Amino acid sequence: MRDVLAELERRREVARAGGGAQRIAAQHAKGKLTARERLSAFLDPDSFEEFDMFVEHRSIDFGMESQKIPGDGVVTGWGTVNGRVVFVFAKDFTVFGGSLSEAHAEKVQKVQDMALRNRAPIIGFYDAGGARIQEGVAALGGYAEIFQRNVLASGVIPQVSVIMGPCAGGDVYSPAMTDFIFMVRDTSYMFVTGPDVVKTVTNETVTAEELGGASIHTTRSSIADGAYDDDLQALLDMRRLIDFLPASNTAPVPELGFEQSLTENDDSLDTLIPDNANKPYDIKELILKVVDAGDFFEIQAAFARNIVTGFGRIEGRTVGIVANQPMVLAGVLDSDASRKAARFVRFCDCFSIPVVTFVDVPGFLPGTSQEYGGLIKHGAKLLFAYAEATVPKVTVITRKAFGGAYDVMASKHLRGDVNYAWPTAQIAVMGAKGAVEIIHRREAGDPVRIAELAEAYEKRFLSPFVAAERGYVDEVIMPHATRRRVSRALAMLRTKDLENPWKKHDNIPL
Ligand code: HXC
Repeated sequence: MRDVLAELERRREVARAGGGAQRIAAQHAKGKLTARERLSAFLDPDSFEEFDMFVEHRSIDFGMESQKIPGDGVVTGWGTVNGRVVFVFAKDFTVFGGSLSEAHAEKVQKVQDMALRNRAPIIGFYDAGGARIQEGVAALGGYAEIFQRNVLASGVIPQVSVIMGPCAGGDVYSPAMTDFIFMVRDTSYMFVTGPDVVKTVTNETVTAEELGGASIHTTRSSIADGAYDDDLQALLDMRRLIDFLPASNTAPVPELGFEQSLTENDDSLDTLIPDNANKPYDIKELILKVVDAGDFFEIQAAFARNIVTGFGRIEGRTVGIVANQPMVLAGVLDSDASRKAARFVRFCDCFSIPVVTFVDVPGFLPGTSQEYGGLIKHGAKLLFAYAEATVPKVTVITRKAFGGAYDVMASKHLRGDVNYAWPTAQIAVMGAKGAVEIIHRREAGDPVRIAELAEAYEKRFLSPFVAAERGYVDEVIMPHATRRRVSRALAMLRTKDLENPWKKHDNIPL
């Protein structure tokens, strides 16, 4: 009997050693943790339950029959994050470069199936060389099985991908279909085809970092939702993210304790809006003062910074925040901002996370580059996302809500549940000067007259009261009471019951 126990322990040790001490040292020398070290930093201590530790590939080509390493390049299983169950897989770069064989793919599929069946989030840690080159089509089939499961799980359980090394070829499309992608700066990169293929096909010379590093994907392509300086920072922040997310689309949002008063006024908000309507202010100041303890998990912080998206908590419960940012491009809506916020609103709606929207938007960005780039359809994505969302929607207009952007930003007309405006709000078709230059075109040569007319227009229309008179805003509120008003609205909306008409699925303008 003892021999069998010892044999189990011996086999476990072999599996835990992955590709061996030398490859582990090489991994560490690159500043990267191993797959198992990543899981142990991400999960609660001693909570990891590993599956399929002894799985080996079945390949007999290119001498592979004599090269078998238990686990086959991916560590899978489940554990807990602050007590809540999550399923995990972590590519082990020390074993065949983390490349995906048929058997490796089956391990990932198993945890995907279990996560979906048990309605718990799944998080994948990537550090891999793509399809196992020695396996051919078996590996391609394995990827497609994973992709199919990503799609079936989409909108049912949260799926998160963390890129912590190479991620190329077949490895990129599974993360692309998950809800969020995070990267580690300098050690991770993602691309469909690497620098060598790029050089051959297009004759461009680029490094892996230039082609698909964290900087490119967080600022230009918007593939990644955030980046961290090292593995440990990324892993700890992923724990923070999991704390915000419901386990599934039928689970309630997590509820944590909170200490910050809901009723205390924050007088500093009364002076947040500058006297000059063209002066910027930082909308994040408002966000941090409204959410519990200023704890805000920003999504896509470095991309389309004219709109801010992220998770916070109000009264201990997760909310999604969307806010125009007057500090960047005056908070205008452009294609990038629209796509960014649309995807975020849809995530929140999938998982019953209420959306709080802070509006200060001068309109959609004019110009050929925007129009040629498809602003109409990109803007429509955000409009569509807000209009289809059935989660509680609370909106606060702090300053400008001009033109089509007024409609789009969770207006009353798109089934906004509680729509507030600050007294500083200006809700109109456009700013006063632009408006009078159009309606009094004949007097355009007389600047004094135009200024008078603009002042009259401003007095009549650039206030929250015209909208309030029609019930388009439910109440004009004091800025200092924003946290209290928003939290009360959300508390009232906990029992909201709204369904869209049955359909197979919608046809959002992709
Ligand atoms: C088998 C692989 C592998 C792969 C790496 N290795 N990639 N084994 N299949 N795809 C092995 C190497 O042989 C090596 O084994 C170990 O992993 C580490 O690799 P190195 O090259 O030494 O590491 P490094 O210099 O850091 O380079 C990492 C890398 C490079 C950039 C990922 O290995 C690479 O370019 N690999 C090939 C990438 C690729 O073209 N994959 C196929 C994509 S096509 P030893 O024993 O020496 O440690 C694809 C199609 C699927 O995925 C499409 C589905 C939709």
